[in-house]
Amino acid sequence: MHTRMDVIKTFIQARGYTRYLEIGCRADDCFREIEVTVKVGVDPNTGGTVRMTSDEYFQALPQGVLFDAIFIDGDHRHPQVWTDIQNSLAVLQDKGVLFMHDCLPPSAEYESPSMCGTAWRAFAKLRERPDLDAYVANLDYGVGIIQKRPNTPPIGIPGGMDDLTFQHLVDHKATLMRPISPEQVVALARS
Ligand SMILES: C[S@@+](CC[C@H](N)C(=O)[O-])C[C@H]1O[C@@H](n2cnc3c(N)ncnc32)[C@H](O)[C@@H]1O
Repeated sequence: MHTRMDVIKTFIQARGYTRYLEIGCRADDCFREIEVTVKVGVDPNTGGTVRMTSDEYFQALPQGVLFDAIFIDGDHRHPQVWTDIQNSLAVLQDKGVLFMHDCLPPSAEYESPSMCGTAWRAFAKLRERPDLDAYVANLDYGVGIIQKRPNTPPIGIPGGMDDLTFQHLVDHKATLMRPISPEQVVALARS
């Protein structure tokens, strides 16, 4: 297991998921590898199946539509990632999984919006919620894995996402992000 695709496909296969949504598809490198019955890819520019921003897509989505797996990889600035997370959780079935890319930028330079951005800050803030259990697969710039289960354990973050700096990530990576190995990803998918 080396890539975001491997992580997502491991869960889809282990759990028999059939409904997949990807936010931000670009050249469909990930999207084309996902084999499920219902596959929706949202991107205002290229790739996927729906030519809209994520905000436009969620606003237009009819009530009652639910997905088993959602991958957030669109606008990587933390305010938009936070919005994408909230909108995604609202249409994720209770036993589904929310994935998000670029949670482990390797250096401060990678926080550029054209690289990993500050998606990690939205993930870290989410770790405060007692009803969501979240880990990061420690590969391919970090793949966040979020499930609707009791948080083990929730953490408190002083201030908001704007107050987090790359040094916070360096100093508190294990607590904030909970990086896990490929073997642990497989075990999580089977749990
Ligand atoms: C890093 S690329 C996606 C890569 C793809 N998920 C993959 O794994 O190969 C980011 C994409 O997000 C799209 N994007 C930017 N802002 C967006 C938004 N507000 N809603 C949805 N997609 C967005 C861009 O057009 C770009 O194609």
